[in-house]
Amino acid sequence: MGVLAGRPEAEIVGALEAFRLGSRPATIMNRIVKGFDAQESHAIAAWFAEQGKR
Ligand code: HEM
Repeated sequence: MGVLAGRPEAEIVGALEAFRLGSRPATIMNRIVKGFDAQESHAIAAWFAEQGKR
């Protein structure tokens, strides 16, 4: 949980997919991910993965 910067891309994509499928409990992310198609989810995750690598 928490900071996305520097997280592996696949982990972030996985979290977004879990929110989309409803397999991960959410208050708002389940609604936010409806706005991203698969290509956008990958692009967003790749961007976060590149930030402030830990
Ligand atoms: C590009 C936009 C966004 C992306 C890529 C994103 C991504 C994520 C990810 C990957 C998690 C899981 C975090 C973890 O495992 O540590 C998460 C959780 C969460 N995010 Fe976002 N987020 C975005 C925008 C937002 C916005 C705009 C809000 C609030 C206005 C928000 C509120 C939350 C909350 C409350 C959680 C906990 C799960 C839930 O209750 O829905 N996120 N987000």
